[in-house]
Amino acid sequence: MCYTCGSPSRRSFTRFLAAGAGLTVLSACTSEAPKAVPSSSAASSASPSPAAVTASTGPTADAATVGQPPGAPSPTPSASATLARQFSLDDPASPWVIVNKHRPLKPADYVPADLVRPTIAISAAGEAALLNSTTAAAAEAMFAAAARDGVAIVLASGYRSYTTQVTTYNGYVAARGQADADTASARPGHSEHQTGWAFDIGDGGGACSFQPCFADQPAATWAKANAYRFGFVVRYPWMLHPITGYYYEPWHLRYIGVEAATDMLNRGIGTLEEYFGLEAAPAYL
Ligand code: DAL
Ligand code: ZN
Repeated sequence: MCYTCGSPSRRSFTRFLAAGAGLTVLSACTSEAPKAVPSSSAASSASPSPAAVTASTGPTADAATVGQPPGAPSPTPSASATLARQFSLDDPASPWVIVNKHRPLKPADYVPADLVRPTIAISAAGEAALLNSTTAAAAEAMFAAAARDGVAIVLASGYRSYTTQVTTYNGYVAARGQADADTASARPGHSEHQTGWAFDIGDGGGACSFQPCFADQPAATWAKANAYRFGFVVRYPWMLHPITGYYYEPWHLRYIGVEAATDMLNRGIGTLEEYFGLEAAPAYL
């Protein structure tokens, strides 16, 4: 994938990514429960650090699903509704919990009850080496499969507490201003990392960690092609920031279960918002 050529918007996007790139590691899914319901029922850390370059474009409200009033019903039925097993979209302990700029974690200071350190290659320290138990088991299976294919993948940043996210987000704001920060780092209480269902991957020392060129590294290309087999999706895909609210993060994987991840792929759906029939969340309300 070429990040240095193409349309102006792509070039500016590249500059933005390069901004979030100098990202040194600073510190940026349970047993299956029952029916997907979009509201209520059912059921020293590492994270990318901010860089100094300013983004020239940010998430915009130009996607088909953008522009609905907050809380408005989705214009399309949820594709996920066809799956036999359904899970809560609201419960942070659910593998389908949707956390975005319109959907803060509840409670904001949620801490997973089953954080564990997976038995995989880890470049993170402290809490960032942890995942919830379901995600950890899936990550172990995925990393082992990658290794069998000759691809090295490491856990670069896993769980992040509310408190850590405060530090991380404030670092981005200090370095880039709030508007740019909001395109790369979640505000405290709005990060998937706090659920234990998401983590960032690296390739164990490559120069592209948390940088745009990571998308072309074996770890990222392998994960993009194979993560669904282990229940993961690339949560913030290329050019879908008008829906997700964040620019492309080829390193950020999110567990939703094998059935849902496979179904999303088969349907050609790129975001959890679209798959679960939720409104786009390009900006905070
Ligand atoms: N970088 C992702 C959006 C996070 O901060 O959770
Ligand atoms: Zn991440």
